[in-house]
Amino acid sequence: CGIVGYVGGKPASALLVEGLHRLEYRGYDSAGIAVRNGEGINIRKRAGRVGELVKLLDEEPIQGSLGIGHTRWATHGETTDTNSHPHVGGNGEVVLVHNGVIENYASLRESLQVRGYVFKTTTDSEVVAHLIAHHLDECIRMGDDPQDRATIQRTLEMSLKQLKGTYGLAIIFRDHPELLVAIRAGSPLVIGIGHNEYFLASDSSPLVGHTDEVVYLDDHEWAFLSPEGMEIIHRDSGQRAPSIQTLDHVAGNIDLGDFDTYMLKEIFEQPQSLENCLRGRIDDDAASAKFGGLNVDVQDLRHVDRIVLTACGTSWHAALVGEYLIEEFARIPVEVEYASEFRYRNPPMTDRTMTFAITQSGETADTLAALRESRRKGHATMAICNVVGSTIAREADGGIYLHAGPEIGVASTKAFTSQVTSMMLLALYLGRMRHLSFPAGQRLIKQMRQLPQLVEKTLACNEAVAKIATKYFDRNNFLYLGRLYNFPVALEGALKLKEISYIHAEGYPAAEMKHGPIALVDEVTPSVFVVPHGTMYPKVMSNLEEVKARKGPVIAIACEGDKEISAAADDVIFVPDVEEYLQPIVTSIPLQLLAYHIAILRGCNVDRPRNLAKSVTVE
Ligand code: G6P
Repeated sequence: CGIVGYVGGKPASALLVEGLHRLEYRGYDSAGIAVRNGEGINIRKRAGRVGELVKLLDEEPIQGSLGIGHTRWATHGETTDTNSHPHVGGNGEVVLVHNGVIENYASLRESLQVRGYVFKTTTDSEVVAHLIAHHLDECIRMGDDPQDRATIQRTLEMSLKQLKGTYGLAIIFRDHPELLVAIRAGSPLVIGIGHNEYFLASDSSPLVGHTDEVVYLDDHEWAFLSPEGMEIIHRDSGQRAPSIQTLDHVAGNIDLGDFDTYMLKEIFEQPQSLENCLRGRIDDDAASAKFGGLNVDVQDLRHVDRIVLTACGTSWHAALVGEYLIEEFARIPVEVEYASEFRYRNPPMTDRTMTFAITQSGETADTLAALRESRRKGHATMAICNVVGSTIAREADGGIYLHAGPEIGVASTKAFTSQVTSMMLLALYLGRMRHLSFPAGQRLIKQMRQLPQLVEKTLACNEAVAKIATKYFDRNNFLYLGRLYNFPVALEGALKLKEISYIHAEGYPAAEMKHGPIALVDEVTPSVFVVPHGTMYPKVMSNLEEVKARKGPVIAIACEGDKEISAAADDVIFVPDVEEYLQPIVTSIPLQLLAYHIAILRGCNVDRPRNLAKSVTVE
């Protein structure tokens, strides 16, 4: 979910909506704002995209220069108008938006209901609103002045003690016309400093263009913002002087240009995004790679004896390719961990284990928690990240930026190939510190340099893929199969199809198929085989024959010049013939396109698929 807030002299409504548009990547189930003016606090909220909220605001505008807003990815409670944020506490004395999950909401709700609080929604967030209203009421009954800010502080202290879970909160109060409160516990918040005004957001993107000066809140910090100034208080250590930082934002092109969708645009941007990822990172003199931001002593790097790659979703698939690359070229044992598992597991890690958190957005809650867990245990923890200045990029000890430019389509495409390319560079770098010879390093560099042109050539398959899509778009199930470097590609191909076309798809190592998924093979279920030339070619071809023997339709991703494949498969998509370790880049592209065309034929919104968010900022 995304949070925005504003306090100052300008009309808040337009600023909040603009901020919500920029935060829609964090969820688009519903959106809402609350603005305070002389009459009190007015709320407008709607299920659906920020666009729906804008329509409502056109009909029923709200004035005022203090406000909060929210764009939601539903956790507790359906996506209805009522369940949308902001939520009201008591009789309207508190209004808030919440990002995160309140784990003890059920028991708190019960005890508040006993006290007479009436719940309008089924969300965990409304509990926070009523809880604060309840303590505020209690303080006032004990004689505290409702207009006094100290009363608010006491109220919040009492309330937050009772909350279990994670939260980022933006709160406004009926009796405080110029006060915006921000509270962070596990869910990031950043304050933008303007001239007699403050902006608040769950990441820096809504602040761009309004201010360059920002303060990142730490966990258990609260900010009291008003046009007169800002005060930051830590739950345990009291007031702290705000450390003001400069917003490090790299603007990127977010125009659709000649494309109808961001996803297609981003697929076609890959020659450029890979060029940008490689730029300045090749060290010809050392036949190695170089990174400006790793911040680790070379001697320490040489002694790394184990690497953990942790990520979610598509980034996790890129990590799987990374495992193969690093083990192959640097001979360092690698573990790939789902961030959501790693954060709660206790895998044995040596003193010299290094962790890499791989993430496009740098905001994924589970990946952030995994990074913190690794750092807590004293391991050097790096980020391989696209969004400059994101929470993970800031909290990591160092890292590698993808430089892929903004990725807007929810289904990740260009970030994936840049993640894989970054890991190739990393494998080369770590390899050259160990066993890899100078000529071997030179060979890798020569091949890697060709990647942008190879991707350009690969994209020429688009028309062929579009045609194949027309044949299969009405199917209900797909299998994706590949081996070694192309096994993660099969997983990623299946994920892409699921995400944007809502067709059930499974990725498997091709040989493993016979231990279960082969039972799904019938005359209508297509199997997509990733079968480029290389050591595994004859083996995967045998697996392909096993499917054909059971009358399963086969779509093959194969190398140009492959003479056997056309006879074996029903449909073939040809890609350039490249070294095995480069194959994930060229073989993943036709699978991105296949998912794209199938989704379009099914009438799906490929940039904003249902139920998903570009970045999942809750656990
Ligand atoms: C969400 C997105 C996926 C993405 C995953 C990890 O689920 O829908 O496309 O791969 O998060 O995101 P990250 O930004 O950490 O790479």
